[in-house]
Amino acid sequence: MQLATRRSAIHVILSEHHRLTSIVNGMLRVVDGMASSSGPASAMLMRAMLYYINEFPEQVHHPKEEQYLFARLRARTEEFEAAISELTLQHEAGKLRVHALERALTRYELAGAAMLPALRDGVYGYADFYAAHRHLEESAILPGAQRYLTVSDWVEIDEAFGANRDPFENLVTEDNLNDLYRLIIQTMPEA
Ligand SMILES: [Fe+2]
Ligand SMILES: [Fe+2]
Repeated sequence: MQLATRRSAIHVILSEHHRLTSIVNGMLRVVDGMASSSGPASAMLMRAMLYYINEFPEQVHHPKEEQYLFARLRARTEEFEAAISELTLQHEAGKLRVHALERALTRYELAGAAMLPALRDGVYGYADFYAAHRHLEESAILPGAQRYLTVSDWVEIDEAFGANRDPFENLVTEDNLNDLYRLIIQTMPEA
């Protein structure tokens, strides 16, 4: 068995959720700080955080959930149909929210403090949205998968989530925003 397949998909998914939550908490701190401190460095930090969300959760994590976890669960039971439909819609809505945040950030950079309330509302709205998304996956889908999926399902899912590791894996904490920014910049994957 290859190293990648020894990793449990559940463990990978939970740690990826934790990482995105850390980034979102960092965004809340940054947007709160924009009201009091000088803008440019904060705006750059937030742009790096949005870059991370676009590159990993949006392009890798959510598609893998749909392609492997949701698809396998759907094949085994109809019990989670409503939750899976809702989560799939949320994946699309999340992309739109992130793009809206990028536009709100650009408006703030160009026009200054007058645009801060809209940016702040967007970041807080995204934080609530993501917390609800994470909660639905962790309270319904993951326990359901553990209950219904077969060993062969898990071999496929573990392999999918074990491959193409998050290039931002070392992003573990929002405690030090400067470190977080440096890590995002240093670990940006090659274009
Ligand atoms: Fe997820
Ligand atoms: Fe998801």
